[in-house]
Amino acid sequence: MTTVAAIAPPTLETPRLVLRPLNADDAAPMTDLADDREVARMTTSIPHPFSQAMADAFIARMARRDARHEIALAVEHRREGFIGVLGFHPNEGPSSELGYWIGRPYWGQGYMTEAVLAAVDWARAGWKKRLLVSGHFADNPASGQVLCKAGFLYTGEVRERFSVARDAPATTRMMVWLG
Ligand SMILES: CC(C)(COP(=O)(O)OP(=O)(O)OC[C@H]1O[C@@H](n2cnc3c(N)ncnc32)[C@H](O)[C@@H]1OP(=O)(O)O)[C@@H](O)C(=O)NCCC(=O)NCCS
Repeated sequence: MTTVAAIAPPTLETPRLVLRPLNADDAAPMTDLADDREVARMTTSIPHPFSQAMADAFIARMARRDARHEIALAVEHRREGFIGVLGFHPNEGPSSELGYWIGRPYWGQGYMTEAVLAAVDWARAGWKKRLLVSGHFADNPASGQVLCKAGFLYTGEVRERFSVARDAPATTRMMVWLG
């Protein structure tokens, strides 16, 4: 039997950011920035409150993933250091689901658009993905704008997705990207 070796997550450079594999030192800034209800409530999976133990566990879990199937990258600002996370997670069939968050002090400066554009370029050229999906809660139009600018389109499908921080389902507008 042939075994195919796991591959490592990439490092991607943009003018202001470096997207790179997470490491244990990211846990402290991740906790500072993710332990924010306004960040957590826009995601399905970040609990609120968010502890350093949760950050440690997330980083350790992602380090065990095979980058052929799942990738989580630190979004690092060249001056400020760690500012958020971007990940591609397994989804039905050949598609991957894009998710991301950035700390509140860094919102509204084009950082996540810059990160998502680089990540999607790599997904097409380096990871050979042809189909990505994502979705945003209906009360989070900023995320919809990021996805639109990266070339995602609304499918028209609206799902109720559970948000751990809200402890409730949230109406989610689904989007796709074709490479
Ligand atoms: C959503 C999020 C990732 C955006 O990151 P960001 O770095 O602030 O995004 P950018 O600055 O690159 O782009 C934001 C866009 O949304 C627009 N926007 C912001 N608030 C908006 C609103 N209320 N309605 C419509 N558009 C809005 C901005 O104008 C900007 O678009 P523009 O460049 O065309 O003007 C960030 O706010 C975040 O992490 N939020 C919490 C977690 C989260 O929502 N994760 C995504 C889950 S789907």
